[in-house]
This record gives sequence, C-alpha cells and structure tokens, in this order.
Amino acid sequence: MSEAAYVDRLAAELEQEFQEKSVIAFVAETVAGATLGAVPPVPGYFKRVRELCDRHGVLLILDEVMCGMGRCGTLWAFEQEGIVPDLVAIAKGLGAGYQPIGALMVSKGIADTIQGGSGFFQHGHTYIGHAAACAGALAVQKRLHEDGVLARVAPLGRSLEKKLKEAFDDHPHVGDIRGRGLFWALELVEDRATKKPFDPELRVHARVKREALEAGLLCYPMGGTVDGVQGDHVLVAPPFIAAEAQLDELVDKLATAIALREPLPAG
Ligand SMILES: Cc1ncc(COP(=O)(O)O)c(C=O)c1O
Repeated sequence: MSEAAYVDRLAAELEQEFQEKSVIAFVAETVAGATLGAVPPVPGYFKRVRELCDRHGVLLILDEVMCGMGRCGTLWAFEQEGIVPDLVAIAKGLGAGYQPIGALMVSKGIADTIQGGSGFFQHGHTYIGHAAACAGALAVQKRLHEDGVLARVAPLGRSLEKKLKEAFDDHPHVGDIRGRGLFWALELVEDRATKKPFDPELRVHARVKREALEAGLLCYPMGGTVDGVQGDHVLVAPPFIAAEAQLDELVDKLATAIALREPLPAG
C-alpha cells in the first residue's frame, strides 16, 4: 500500500467514527514516542485529520509532551505537518528536566469562548503555575531561542540519522530506523527481511535496557511496539547540547546494547 493510500484509509476510518458517534475531540501524539518508538506521521496524515476535525466540529488535541519543545527540530512537532491543533499538551522539554513543569496551550478561539462565557476555568493542582517551575522553564526557553540551542537540533539530528543508518542499516535484528530531529528509534526484530518480531516472552527490550545501562547509555527500550504485546524498540533522545563525539559514543554504546551477546532462548 502506498503512503497516500494509507492516509486515505485512515481518513475514511476516522470520518466513519465522526459520522457514527458524537465526538468532542481527536487526540494524537504528533510523533509517537514511548509506545511506538519515534514514529513520524505519514506525509499528509495530519492535514487530512485537521480537515476532518474542522468539517465535523471536532477539536484536535495534540500530545507533544515528548516530541514537542524542539525535540523534533522545530519548537512544535506539528509545524512540520503544516497544521495547528486546537489544544496541545507540552511538558518534558519545556523545563528540560531542570524543573517539573507541564502546560496545556489552547487556541485563541477556545480561550475567548471561556472568557466570553463564565470567564471561569475550574481546574487546578496544588502547585499549579509554581513560580520556581515557571522560572526554570523560562530560562530553558531563553536558551533554546536566544542562545541558538533549538537551531542545533535539526543539523545534529541529520548527523545522528546518518550515524544510526551507517551503524545499523545491515544489522540482522534492526527492522527499522526512524525518527525526527533528536528523537530516533530502532525497531528490533527477529528477522530483518520479514520484520517478524521477537517472541514477547524473550523480553528483548528489557535485555537491551540492562545492556545499555551496563555500557553507560541511558536510552528508552520498550515492548509492545507492533500490537501492544509483540514488538520491541529502543528510543534515543540525546540532549540538544550534545557534541558530535557524544553522538558517536551513543551509537557505539547502542551497538553494544543491541548485540544480544547472550544467546536468546528458542522462542
Ligand atoms: C507522550 C506523553 N504524553 C503524556 C505523558 C505523561 O505526562 P505526565 O507524566 O506529565 O502526565 C508522557 C509521559 O511519558 C508522554 O510520553
């Protein structure tokens, strides 16, 4: 199936849902993170989703907790899709881990509707809008924009892509290398040609996590990539301040982690 045909199929499925049910919103991760392993959207997918949402009066909510705030090479991952959501959730990169902070951005239309209605948005947490967390996030955003840190992501990402592909394109257990910006994943498979996943009982992702840690690499291996049960991948998301040599080190250590040196018991 071509990518265009796939987008048509997904759009038809979504439209059918919108026609059959009363739908308030459609929620998606712009670039799927921990669950699928850095999977960018198929070209044109979000344009179709946006059109369908507009036509059926459905809000489009994007989750950019992982892929947003520069991780994919632009401040918002959705910029690369040529659409704007109605609401977008952000967190991790907002404070770069220095402060625990998350935020929900809403379009002007939604803010105006609330303001023009009751003017009251009943919502809160004990530490909502905490000054120290906001100050930390502001400092991070200043570095991103004023010190050129965001501008490093796209070129460093291209370099990481090249290094990953050089190292793993022919690896017998790497079925796919995908990502965007500094957000990349390897999909680990039993058979490269057929993309047959490993038996989930082998817990290949857990082994990779242990081996990576032993090698001195913090990465994010997960299972259930294919259908929630089968499939393994390992996600890497180096810091935006990484140097080329550190990307080389990452790739070397990842190679050690996925070498699966101990024989895997027969599935
Ligand atoms: C894409 C995505 N959305 C939401 C969350 C949850 O965020 P929080 O822990 O801030 O509720 C995570 C956590 O990893 C995530 O990766």
